Amino acid sequence: MNKLITEPTHRFLRACYGLPTDYTPIWMMRQAGRYLPEYQAVRSRLGFLDLCKTPDLAAEVTVQPIDRLGVDAAILFADILLICQAMGQHLEFTAGHGPRLEPVASESDIERLVVPDPTDECGFVMETVSEVRRRLAGKVPLIGFAGAPFTVATYMVEGGSSKSFSNLKRMMFAEPALYRRLLDKITEATTLYLEAQVEAGAEALQIFDSWAGALTAPDFRAHALPYVQRMVESLSNKDVPVIYYVGQAAHLIEPMVESGAEVLGVDWRLPLSEARRRIGGRAAVQGNLDPCVLLGPVELIEERARAVLEEAGPKPGHIFNLGHGILPETSPSHAKALVDTVHEYRRQAPA
Ligand code: CP3
Repeated sequence: MNKLITEPTHRFLRACYGLPTDYTPIWMMRQAGRYLPEYQAVRSRLGFLDLCKTPDLAAEVTVQPIDRLGVDAAILFADILLICQAMGQHLEFTAGHGPRLEPVASESDIERLVVPDPTDECGFVMETVSEVRRRLAGKVPLIGFAGAPFTVATYMVEGGSSKSFSNLKRMMFAEPALYRRLLDKITEATTLYLEAQVEAGAEALQIFDSWAGALTAPDFRAHALPYVQRMVESLSNKDVPVIYYVGQAAHLIEPMVESGAEVLGVDWRLPLSEARRRIGGRAAVQGNLDPCVLLGPVELIEERARAVLEEAGPKPGHIFNLGHGILPETSPSHAKALVDTVHEYRRQAPA
């Protein structure tokens, strides 16, 4: 945990540090994206990667959900796979197919990967961060982010999205030295990348380990967590809270606490009361509405949102979020109904 020198004033940052807030802050993973017509309008003009690399437009879509939904934090518009390209791997996004990468398979493939200077190779990300801060003018904090080394490695080795991660797991079990070399390199590159985001103005950081839930707890401890611990440790002098999100992590809460992150993000499979009991006050929690609930009627959204708030309980240190990214078919008015419900539920003692 970072040492707090001065107490932050914004409710999102306060909740990250377990401090009391006027109401529970909320933001949504993938809140800038295809469900918003104003995003579609910008995106129709250029490809996804080009959008990430055009700071002015990336800043514009970052701010869109703040204006439309009134969420309590902004998240940088970028992608966890940009680092793969910066490390020298070929990356493309094709419509309907998601990301495609030239798979990393051999020792020479790994040796060819570079640890880039993030201000050279990802300068556009840092420009987006500064531009977003300028546009937000202190209204809400800006979250920077990166993928966790294990999750980034699934894309690097599988060459895209995967169900079983069998190529990466084969490397992990059959060629552990090669696996460690790859994850060490990703860790080093990602740490520099996150440090640069903070230098540019990011006020919190989220590390996405979307697929680490595919590991048993002992394998998570041995093959995913140490790299995250190293990143969190390196970032601990930066005075920004770190959120560590792991998908399908009901069996991983205890080791996740050992990451040292200020906030642990979990999905809807784990009730927040149980998450908080097992975390035992050592971190704040973020989550965890099933994003598919937003596809149901507004009354159901209100009911399920209140159920999440009840599960989290009255103690400070809860940031409301979805358990995974918002789906493209979500109606923006349903997303707004969720934000309003959370904001109207003033259960916590006033700050
Ligand atoms: O609003 C935000 O959350 C900020 C931007 C953001 C994006 N991707 C934009 C994006 C963030 C934080 C991410 C993280 C990300 N990217 C993750 C971790 C979170 C998770 O969902 O588990 C992962 C695994 C990726 C990799 C990725 N990016 C995939 C697999 C895909 C294709 C699938 C899809 O949803 O289209 C993307 C594309 C992507 N990243 C889009 C957006 C808005 C859609 C691109 C488009 O406009 O066509």
